[in-house]
Amino acid sequence: MMPRAHLCSLSLLILYLTTGCGQESRFSGPLKPMTFSIFEGQESSQIIFQFKVNPPAVNFELTGETDNIFKIEPNGLLYLTKALDRETRSIHNLQVATVDANGAIVEGPVPITIEVKDINDNRPTFLQSKYEGSVRQNSRPGKPFMYVNATDLDDPATPNGQLFYEIVIQMPKINNVMYFQINDKTGAISLTREGALELDPIKNPSYNLVVSVKDMGGQNENSFSDTTSVNIMVTENIWKAPAPVEIVENSTAPHPIKVTQVRWNDLGAHYSLVDKEKLPRFPFSIDQEGDIYVTQPLDREEKDSYNFYAVARDEQGQPLARPLEIHVKVKDINDNPPTCPSAVTVFEVQEKEPLGNIIGNFTAYDNDEENNVHSMLFYRIVEQTPHIPEDGLFLVEAHTGKFQLAKRSLRKQDTSQYNLTVEVHDNAFQTLCAVQINVIDINDQIPIFEKSDYGNLTIPEDTNVGSTILTIQATDNDEPLTGSAKILYRIIEGDSKGRLGVDTDPHTNAGYVIVKRPLDFETAAVSNIVFKAENPEPLVSGVAYNASSFAKFKLIVTDVNEAPVFSQHVFQGKVSEAVTIGTKVGNVTAKDPEGLDIRYSLRGDRRGWLKIDPVTGEIFSAAPLDREAESVYQVQVVATEVGGSSLNAVSHFHLTLMDVNDSPPRLVKEYTGLFFCYPLSAPGSLIFEATDDDWQFPRGPQFTFSLGSESLQKDWEVSKINGTHASLSTKHTNFEERVYEVPIRINDGGRPSPLEGIVSLPVTVCKCVEERCFQPVSRQPGMPTVGMAVGILLTTFLVIGIILAAVFIRIKKDKGKDNVQSTQTSEVEPLRS
Ligand SMILES: *[C@@H]1O[C@H](CO)[C@@H](O)[C@H](O)[C@H]1NC(C)=O
Ligand SMILES: *[C@@H]1O[C@H](CO)[C@@H](O)[C@H](O)[C@H]1NC(C)=O
Ligand SMILES: *[C@@H]1O[C@H](CO)[C@@H](O)[C@H](O)[C@H]1NC(C)=O
Ligand SMILES: *[C@@H]1O[C@H](CO)[C@@H](O)[C@H](O)[C@H]1NC(C)=O
Ligand SMILES: *[C@@H]1O[C@H](CO)[C@@H](O)[C@H](O)[C@H]1NC(C)=O
Ligand SMILES: *[C@@H]1O[C@H](CO)[C@@H](O)[C@H](O)[C@H]1NC(C)=O
Ligand SMILES: *[C@@H]1O[C@H](CO)[C@@H](O)[C@H](O)[C@H]1NC(C)=O
Ligand SMILES: *[C@@H]1O[C@H](CO)[C@@H](O)[C@H](O)[C@H]1NC(C)=O
Repeated sequence: MMPRAHLCSLSLLILYLTTGCGQESRFSGPLKPMTFSIFEGQESSQIIFQFKVNPPAVNFELTGETDNIFKIEPNGLLYLTKALDRETRSIHNLQVATVDANGAIVEGPVPITIEVKDINDNRPTFLQSKYEGSVRQNSRPGKPFMYVNATDLDDPATPNGQLFYEIVIQMPKINNVMYFQINDKTGAISLTREGALELDPIKNPSYNLVVSVKDMGGQNENSFSDTTSVNIMVTENIWKAPAPVEIVENSTAPHPIKVTQVRWNDLGAHYSLVDKEKLPRFPFSIDQEGDIYVTQPLDREEKDSYNFYAVARDEQGQPLARPLEIHVKVKDINDNPPTCPSAVTVFEVQEKEPLGNIIGNFTAYDNDEENNVHSMLFYRIVEQTPHIPEDGLFLVEAHTGKFQLAKRSLRKQDTSQYNLTVEVHDNAFQTLCAVQINVIDINDQIPIFEKSDYGNLTIPEDTNVGSTILTIQATDNDEPLTGSAKILYRIIEGDSKGRLGVDTDPHTNAGYVIVKRPLDFETAAVSNIVFKAENPEPLVSGVAYNASSFAKFKLIVTDVNEAPVFSQHVFQGKVSEAVTIGTKVGNVTAKDPEGLDIRYSLRGDRRGWLKIDPVTGEIFSAAPLDREAESVYQVQVVATEVGGSSLNAVSHFHLTLMDVNDSPPRLVKEYTGLFFCYPLSAPGSLIFEATDDDWQFPRGPQFTFSLGSESLQKDWEVSKINGTHASLSTKHTNFEERVYEVPIRINDGGRPSPLEGIVSLPVTVCKCVEERCFQPVSRQPGMPTVGMAVGILLTTFLVIGIILAAVFIRIKKDKGKDNVQSTQTSEVEPLRS
């Protein structure tokens, strides 16, 4: 502590105390270049420094930008006479010299620099009290459509001049949802995601916002603020998906043919189509007017519809809005002939069957669109061989293909077989089909079961599907190997769920009772099954099935501890490859037939990407997913019953990873504050972050970074830190004091086509004060405002208070009788001396 020096710095009123200020200190010393830093707006009459007078010098001379504020006493005391205003002059360059009695310079002049430190004495002001803007419906969220600007005369390098914008009110506001957002630093107003989805000029054509701006970066309760009103008109978006398009297949007109169009709201958009179905050939194109063409004839039978997207981008290749989905339906023409159901279709007719009986149904097929005139078929019999006993014995219904006896009953002694040629036509094409009609014996015998009761049959419920559990037998005495003797066994009671079926051996007519669906003790333990044996051919009149054509058995199913059962054989999930770890990507469910609890686990998770909740079966991502490594990731899920025999069941989980890349990367924010101190003492580096806002499908950012221009490689170097961050380093130290706009190329490595964005990173090389960029403010004329930041003042007062207290004590001790009055002193400290 140097008590005298402290006293020297106090005030003009105690000037006389300073005569003894001999020693060099923070507040006194010999004449040499010095820099002082003083807060603006402080009370006047403050001592800055006392220079030593070395004989023969007797006086001091002060020149330079004194603005009549700075004065120097003959004893070397430099002081100011009124408050400084940084906004008037932020640096005062003074010169001080000593002169002898004759006025000749003894020492100096030496430069004395006074830096005026900012206090928050200017309030931010919006340039306009009212702003008008307009935004298109469905504009991309986050893309600024207007700015509000405020200015604050305070030093932008200090919090005093750092502005913070905020939307205070949105009117109207529905369900408390904000449709607009503002960049707190730039004042850029854009839509929120909700705004992009919900704004609709028909529902509400205009919104009013109250926007506030605060200085002190909005972080201090003593910050000044201003508000402005922003009116926003919502205008219709003509960027709308066109109506679905119909294109007639197999067109012979010259291609390409315009089929529809999209239009961006303004001129100059660049259009492209995106085929998300990844077709081997994609038969559509778009021109720079937005007209969409089909480039070649389509074939409905190959593919009957197309869905793709139209994208509009700006000059920089950034999507202007969300892609529009284009639907194309391929219209059928009759370009397929009918086809016969088989090479020869065989029907049987009994002897003496009455006229008009249905012999069979004949159905041909047509590949043209169903339920369309192009697949509507017409049938006609064109030939019958032999013509015995006459021609035209058969009739086919033109629309249904139903065959009937047309003229008379048939007799086997005439012929046992007729060959018919049937023409099928669909209005354009004709096909001839062969139909064979066999005349068979009359069906006057019914099938008779060998026994009417097959007794009790006990089988476990886990009997395999496909197992034969019983053989039954009936016999029919009609002509063998015809529809009169063939037996069809039908289960008519006891099996509504279709668990059983009966297959007939065509040679022996033995019926094999087969398990068609799993048996289940829990739902049906005992069933009384009844069979009926029938012929495919109708019985002649007068003969009917009787009790001998029926048989029964009792099916007793026994319980087995069964494994759990999954509700699906394959479970599907579909997520973007970029989901964060821990995202739910799917779920599976299994049930144990005995009702035991189930625990789930995964098998075959080769990449360790997934984990499953053992209790709920929900599946989550456990690591970053990569569509480029696995587009469909397949694992097995195992459900194990708890207790019991720990039986388990296995199902499959297929996770489809979606990839979409239609936005180039960009910087995560507007970097405005990056700087290096001038002159650079050593090469330095700065970190910046990129992002990618693919609309609906965020991609995992794995950017690569490089300089946007090769010529800058001698000055700068870009190196990747990780997928989103990179550093920009200087390669040398010879940078000028100015703002460098460094172009950075960011590539998202996306597939099938990576997108690239070139962004400009502003780096300021500037003189620094206290590790901060010191940016001289252009001189603003005008008086300093009265308002002062209470916060800063309070701090200052506190410091002053402490100094004063110390000083008073000292004064009392040293020169108890001195009458000291003091005005408040400012914080005065030389930076370097
Ligand atoms: C408002 O600010 C933006 C971004 O900071 C700037 O581009 C624009 O020129 C400013 N407008 C006015 C009128 O100052
Ligand atoms: C297209 O139509 C022509 C006759 O117009 C036909 O010969 C051709 O097979 C058709 N192509 C397809 C793919 O249907
Ligand atoms: C033919 O189809 C009709 C219905 O169109 C049906 O009633 C009849 O049983 C079928 N006949 C044969 C033998 O399949
Ligand atoms: C009917 O056609 C078959 C060949 O498809 C032939 O073997 C048979 O002899 C023909 N029957 C009559 C009666 O013409
Ligand atoms: C078949 O089982 C029933 C009980 O379901 C029993 O009453 C009957 O005696 C059994 N018949 C034979 C032949 O075992
Ligand atoms: C059923 O009819 C056949 C003759 O068609 C006869 O032999 C048999 O006894 C009849 N069965 C019953 C149960 O009436
Ligand atoms: C599983 O997911 C489906 C749809 O994804 C849902 O309907 C079902 O409720 C979910 N089950 C569980 C147990 O979460
Ligand atoms: C990437 O690096 C930056 C800077 O080192 C760090 O802040 C960020 O958390 C990193 N991101 C990831 C995903 O590791």
